[in-house]
Amino acid sequence: MKTAAQLLKTILRTFRLRFGLTVNREGLTRVVLLTDKHVVKLPNFLGLRSSESSWLLFLQALVENAREAKASRLNHLVDNKLCPVVFAIPGGWLNVMKRADPVPAQVFNALDYAAFIRCGDYWLAVENKQSSFGFLDGRLVAIDYSGVFERSRWKQLFLSPSIRAYMSLLALDEGDGESDGRE
Ligand SMILES: Nc1ncnc2c1ncn2[C@@H]1O[C@H](COP(=O)(O)OP(=O)(O)OP(=O)(O)O)[C@@H](O)[C@H]1O
Ligand SMILES: [Mg+2]
Repeated sequence: MKTAAQLLKTILRTFRLRFGLTVNREGLTRVVLLTDKHVVKLPNFLGLRSSESSWLLFLQALVENAREAKASRLNHLVDNKLCPVVFAIPGGWLNVMKRADPVPAQVFNALDYAAFIRCGDYWLAVENKQSSFGFLDGRLVAIDYSGVFERSRWKQLFLSPSIRAYMSLLALDEGDGESDGRE
């Protein structure tokens, strides 16, 4: 009898052949199916084995999809710097996002990350790595993001450690002398 993972692999293979999908497995938590104009982000079911880390990564993927869908609805607050999620199943089970083109290393190296994530009273939670960005209709956008929030509230939010560390530096830079409560 086929396991759920084998069944899903078969379904993916069928879709790939039928619709010309390509599959990107570079993400830690999500499998991304690419069509001409859109991508589909799914939690990495196929990595779901008995180990705890796979299970936690799967949960993390649900959270990331759900946060991405929510942030995308606030895109207008951040000058549409987010590659939009055009359809999402609530709970993070599946996101459909517009497909962006990859960003060359030299473009990423020249990127003013601080300027990108600050948008007036709002900040973007986007990791500072090349694979978080893409080009959509000739504009640089974030393709892997987890929040849009009022900058005064960043300390109250759940943010990944790398983003949190960066927010802390930006806040200090803006004259917010308080630490974020950690040494
Ligand atoms: N909108 C998009 N357009 C084109 N490619 C995309 C898009 N979204 C994601 N990808 C591709 O899929 C890969 C994985 O997607 P994503 O970064 O969202 O997953 P993740 O699990 O959060 O990955 P990571 O471990 O890097 O945080 C990206 O590095 C990129 O190559
Ligand atoms: Mg990510």
